[in-house]
Amino acid sequence: MHDPVRVGVIGCGNIFSRYATGMSRFPGLELVAVADTDPVRAQAAAAESGAVACTVDGLLGRTDVDVVVNITPPAAHAVVSEQVLAAGKHLYVEKPLAATSAAARAALAEADRRGLLFGAAPDTFLGSAGQTARAAIDGGVIGEPVGATAFVTHSQAETWHPDPTFLFRPGGGPALDMGPYYLSALVNCLGPVSAVYGTSRIGAPQRTVTAPGRLVDRIEVSVPTHTAATVTFASGVLATVMLSFDVWDHHLPFIEIYGTEGTLSLPNPNNYDGPVLLRRHGDPQWSELPPAVPPLARAGSDDQLMRGIGVADLAAALREARPHHATAGLAFHVLDALEAIAVSADTGAPVQLTTTCERPEPVDGTYGAEALNTLEVHP
Ligand SMILES: NC(=O)c1ccc[n+]([C@@H]2O[C@H](COP(=O)([O-])OP(=O)(O)OC[C@H]3O[C@@H](n4cnc5c(N)ncnc54)[C@H](O)[C@@H]3O)[C@@H](O)[C@H]2O)c1
Repeated sequence: MHDPVRVGVIGCGNIFSRYATGMSRFPGLELVAVADTDPVRAQAAAAESGAVACTVDGLLGRTDVDVVVNITPPAAHAVVSEQVLAAGKHLYVEKPLAATSAAARAALAEADRRGLLFGAAPDTFLGSAGQTARAAIDGGVIGEPVGATAFVTHSQAETWHPDPTFLFRPGGGPALDMGPYYLSALVNCLGPVSAVYGTSRIGAPQRTVTAPGRLVDRIEVSVPTHTAATVTFASGVLATVMLSFDVWDHHLPFIEIYGTEGTLSLPNPNNYDGPVLLRRHGDPQWSELPPAVPPLARAGSDDQLMRGIGVADLAAALREARPHHATAGLAFHVLDALEAIAVSADTGAPVQLTTTCERPEPVDGTYGAEALNTLEVHP
């Protein structure tokens, strides 16, 4: 048995509880310190989790913090990530990697220079659904992948987030807020993106916030909220991708991959687990594939919104001196692809990507986590 890797969290807002509870599933992680620019939030997070409340500088100066999890809003990701790496700590940051790919570059270079691990959300593709789909693709069960679809529909944040303003500002929007889950899942299965073409618009210029306990009543929207894109993968697969905060109701799948010998249908990539369905040409019906790794939580339950496996993977990589999977390099490529869709929408021209990444290696388990089946949180 190894000692757990000691974790500090910067940013104690809406998602904090899901990290605290989610990380507590993994015996390889121990949450020791929390910090926020708002000391009241840091105190509340400390009371909830049993960690020590600190200032940001105080947390970064602690010798008992090995890995820092940056769950500040997107506009603060790059600055906080640079502070963490400058303090010599390994880092895991929420999605998107930064508000822009340009803003992420300094932190990527700093992590490289210092030899620090730099992980990034989303980590959901490390769950049973992403790993099952990946194994099916690699095993050739649908033949050669030819096409794919991915549909980001409205997460309805106005109805549950007390202040979803950042979701409707640069760094947010459906592309950068939800797009990383879908594109990371596709890259996990299909490899890197080579080119994109996109069109987009703002659905409604203002949004009314109806969340209980809301901190704002109304939001001025300054990023596109509906995007239609074609995404070409280096492998030649063509994906049709919709990224929208304007689709409230629909009959669309989350992600499907179409091969020469059959179709795979994947569950919500914002979750870790759920049925991966296969229908090979001539099959009378869809069949559910057995999970390639154990599920982390009951499919469809709110426990799917807990977070932490990406941090546990990074901690295991640190202990075992091996590569991790939910890397900042993958997140950078995904952010670049999503930004390129926006550039294409602005210019009307397709964009060839200049970044690429390796497909993350498959994982062989869930880092000793006990499956969560009882806890419920608000989505
Ligand atoms: N809310 C969700 O359901 C959800 C789910 C998955 C991922 N995420 C991602 O997690 C991140 C945080 O989301 P959230 O909903 O918790 O946001 P939030 O606005 O509720 O909380 C962010 C917290 O960070 C603090 N903060 C801001 N700048 C800081 C700085 N420079 N140093 C220290 N603290 C700072 C704020 O005071 C706030 O308490 C975002 O990147 C978001 O995309 C959120």
